[in-house]
Amino acid sequence: MSHTPLGLKPALGWNSWNTFTWDINEQLIREVADRFVSDGYKDAGYEYIVIDDCWSLKERDAEGNWIVDSNKFPSGMKALADYIHSKGLKFGMYSCVGTHTCAGYPGSFEHEFQDAKQLAEWGVDFLKYDYCFKPRHMSGELLYKRMSLALKNSGREILFSACNWGEDNVYQWIRESGAHMYRSTHDIQDQWESIKKLALSQLDKTSYTGSFCHNDMDMLVVGMYGGSNNGFIGSKIGGCNDLEYQTHFALWSMMGSPLMIGCDIRSANEAAKATLLNPDLIAINQDLEGRGAYRIKPEPQWFHTNEVFILVKVLTDGDLAIGFFNLSDDQREISLQFWDLGLPYASGFSLSLYDCWEQQELGVFTERYAPTVPGHGSHVVRAKLARR
Ligand code: GAL
Repeated sequence: MSHTPLGLKPALGWNSWNTFTWDINEQLIREVADRFVSDGYKDAGYEYIVIDDCWSLKERDAEGNWIVDSNKFPSGMKALADYIHSKGLKFGMYSCVGTHTCAGYPGSFEHEFQDAKQLAEWGVDFLKYDYCFKPRHMSGELLYKRMSLALKNSGREILFSACNWGEDNVYQWIRESGAHMYRSTHDIQDQWESIKKLALSQLDKTSYTGSFCHNDMDMLVVGMYGGSNNGFIGSKIGGCNDLEYQTHFALWSMMGSPLMIGCDIRSANEAAKATLLNPDLIAINQDLEGRGAYRIKPEPQWFHTNEVFILVKVLTDGDLAIGFFNLSDDQREISLQFWDLGLPYASGFSLSLYDCWEQQELGVFTERYAPTVPGHGSHVVRAKLARR
């Protein structure tokens, strides 16, 4: 198997937080690993299985080492890592720049090199690094540089997932810090308004994302349907419908975000699976050159609102991924003039379009394409130049 450099493409995986928050244990994590293999997630490219907050005891031992919560993880982290590796998958864990994690467990402040060594010894491949309880006199930028240095010198390849919620102008310094991905948003909720808010907040930031340092718009809520054990994330607000989950997945895919599944994949229904496993959307997300998407305001301009837009991602092979997004509540025709893609009529080329959701060819179009998209919906095509 050829070796892909760490962080080249947006990470694909699963994280325990959205559905389970504090209620995690090794049996759950093993079952998720089993499902990755049996239900096609691994074949689709999903790789990392990440334990979020709440895995340790509340105090370190006398030497300052973390103590794994043996009620939740009786076999320990090394055994769990071995199990996950035996399935050909990778194992992720969680800590925090501060004195404590967000849920009040020990953070890595002033333990960075010790913790990085511990993670390497356990066989961890990914570290999500949160931003709570950051000492006020320290800059976040410096603390991410610290952990990055510690991980890179831990003796193991560990993907570094920074999570400072887009604060302190993270866009301007995170790539230089050595992180492979960076959370740019506050926590997602399993609700349409949250998906919309997060996506709109990143539309003017698409030039920052790219290979080796990807803009992480937060874990996916696809397939949760309100099924979090946490009221804020989902159980009190009811979830989304399948169309909204598709749009969410299309936005995250096109905008180059890591795709970290947040639902309980052991009970995911067919619609959620079809969304999460869509090979054409995943291919767009994983395109080698890792370019951000640019935005086009659709014609006619008179109804233009920031809730209706087109995203275009230039792909390595010369194709274009084009997403028509209607985040408004009413159905819209969204009209794209090929001129705005850099394709004048005089070029002699038309576009051959393939529908990524329906997984079918749509035919060849000249100069203009104007799909009708339902409220909260998306239409994503892969476009190939075709000589007339
Ligand atoms: C938040 C973070 C979430 C989750 C949580 C754990 O700060 O954004 O994704 O990790 O902490 O307490």
